[in-house]
Order: sequence, then structure tokens, then C-alpha cells
Amino acid sequence: MSGKYAIVLEGISKTFERAEKPSVYKTDLKIEEGNFVTILGASGCGKTTLLKMVNRLYEPSSGKVFINGEDVSRISPTALRRRIGYVIQQTGLFQHMTVEQNVATVPEILGWGKEKINRRIDELLQLVGLPPAEYRKRYPRQLSGGQQQRVGLARALAADPSIMLMDEPFGAIDAINRSILQDEILRIQKQLNKTILFVTHDITEALKLGDKVIIMNEGKVQQYDTPLHILRHPANDFVKSLVHSDDLFQRMAFVKAGDVMNEDIDSQKLSEEAPESQEQTSLRDILLLLISSPFHYVKIKNERNEMVGTVTINEIRQA
Ligand SMILES: Nc1ncnc2c1ncn2[C@@H]1O[C@H](COP(=O)(O)OP(=O)(O)OP(=O)(O)O)[C@@H](O)[C@H]1O
Ligand SMILES: [Mg+2]
Repeated sequence: MSGKYAIVLEGISKTFERAEKPSVYKTDLKIEEGNFVTILGASGCGKTTLLKMVNRLYEPSSGKVFINGEDVSRISPTALRRRIGYVIQQTGLFQHMTVEQNVATVPEILGWGKEKINRRIDELLQLVGLPPAEYRKRYPRQLSGGQQQRVGLARALAADPSIMLMDEPFGAIDAINRSILQDEILRIQKQLNKTILFVTHDITEALKLGDKVIIMNEGKVQQYDTPLHILRHPANDFVKSLVHSDDLFQRMAFVKAGDVMNEDIDSQKLSEEAPESQEQTSLRDILLLLISSPFHYVKIKNERNEMVGTVTINEIRQA
């Protein structure tokens, strides 16, 4: 079993007692380390069931699950909880406990010292955008839904798990705060280099967040690929009807400059004044840049501010 995969499913099926058909059927998946993978599918298609077999909340009827090359059936639930963070829609926060007590749950189970736990609480609340001085002593009922989700996220990150499972964590959040939380989780994932498996039934969310997207229907994976590839080459009619329900302009929001840029360009021939952007910028934003500029291309730079290619209007049309 190769170590570069954070999560591997081999022939996983799950049939609940008295159920007529399996909720998850003969599923193989390989999730690379450090990837943000979203699972998209309609209600009841088996997303939660799939996720819960990774951290052993459910045992598969057949097949095997590996994390970092290790068979999870051989890892104790406590050790597994330390290695896999879990965030759900209703946050599962303990209502009678303050924010700091909630975040400290796993470190306390693991027997960390008081000082270390204290530092960790501050660090995590800072990370999820809740200033500790203001929020440590509050109870969940004194927080908005979005703030509760942030605490849920901080709690799941407490023991620094390398893998995070997130089951519709932003499902109950209004559109504006949802979009803010999406940007935050992207930032946190990049910063901490976590492997995230994130369930949603929102197409926009799945395509925006995922390095790769798993599309599920009736217990089976229909396609597992990058957002760009899924949009360009849907594997079957089910995927096509799902992702093409949005218009083109909408879809461009999920295609990143880095996905379509032309790398064989002579940077000497490009103008100093041409607009610049980053690999992670969406094509929609690049199009907006182009519309307001006399140039037909945008220079794309990487994180170190080095020039790595261009995106032209033609490339946007083809995407
Ligand atoms: N504990 C259980 N016992 C029996 N059947 C279950 C159990 N959990 C889920 N199921 C069934 O398995 C199927 C898949 O359920 P699952 O919760 O995985 O769907 P989902 O894709 O997460 O849906 P949603 O988007 O509504 O959360 C459903 O038909 C559901 O009724
Ligand atoms: Mg579910």
C-alpha cells in the first residue's frame, strides 16, 4: 500500500440491516495526501455512509479502508480520532460546555498538559477567526450558526489530525457566511496542508472547494476528477445533467487560471503593463480583468510571484 495516499477504499460496500440494496456499493477510491476532495450527490446517495466508514463510525459490509497505508480496522478508535478530525452540520458542540472546553475535548482525552491545551485553544480560535479573549468563555448558544461551525472546526483540528472528514459543515449557514467560511477553510487547508474529504450537495461548493470532486449517485461513484475535467468531460448523462445545470459564466468561477494557462510563452515578449493574476484566481475574475484592459492576455504568477504563463480570451472561451 503506497504511503502517498491519505485515504484508500478498496471494494467498500455497506448494506444496512433489513435494507433492500446497499447504501454504498463496491467503491474504490484513492485520496492523495494534502488534497481537498469534495463528495457531491443527492440526498440519500450514500455520502455520509461513505464518510463514516473512514473513521469507523460504520463498519463496511465488505472491503477495506486504509489511512496513510494502514488498515483502519487495526487502529483503535481513540488513535483514529486523533488522526482524523470530524466536522458535521449540527456541529455536535457540547451545549453545556464553553468554547474553550469544547475545543479542549480531544487534547484532554489524549492527556495533554494544561499549558499546552491552553496555548492550543488560543492558536486554534485565532486560526478560525474567533479572537480568544472574546470567545473562549462563551457557550454555544451565545454564538451564531457560523461561529458555532468555526468552533466545530477548531475542535476537530485540536489534535492536529492529518485527515479531516467534513459532512455538510456549512449546510445550515446563510449564503454570505457560507461563502466566507468556504474561503476560510480553503485558506486553512493550504496553510496546514490537511487532507480533507468534504461532503456537500451544493454543486457550487463542491466545484469551488475541491481539488478533485467525487460525484456519487445511488451508492456508486459516477466520476472522480478535477472540477475542470468534470465540467469538460462529464463521465455520463447523470454527471452532465448535474454540472451543466449552471450557465457558462457561473461555471467559470470554478475553473482556475492555473488549469488552462498557456505555459509556452516567451515572457520577454509580454508587456510590462499587461494585467497580472495568480494561478488560483478563477477564470471569471480573469475575464473581468481582461474586459477592463486593452490587452488580450493576463500574466499568471505563482505563489513566489514568478511568471508561469498566460491566459488569453481564447483559452477562456475553450474552458
Ligand atoms: N444507520 C442506518 N440504518 C439504516 N439505513 C441507513 C442508515 N444510515 C443511512 N441509511 C440509508 O442509507 C442510504 C444512504 O444514506 P446516507 O446518510 O449515506 O445519505 P447521504 O448521501 O449522506 O444523504 P444526505 O445528503 O441526505 O445527508 C439512505 O437510503 C439511508 O436511508
Ligand atoms: Mg448525509
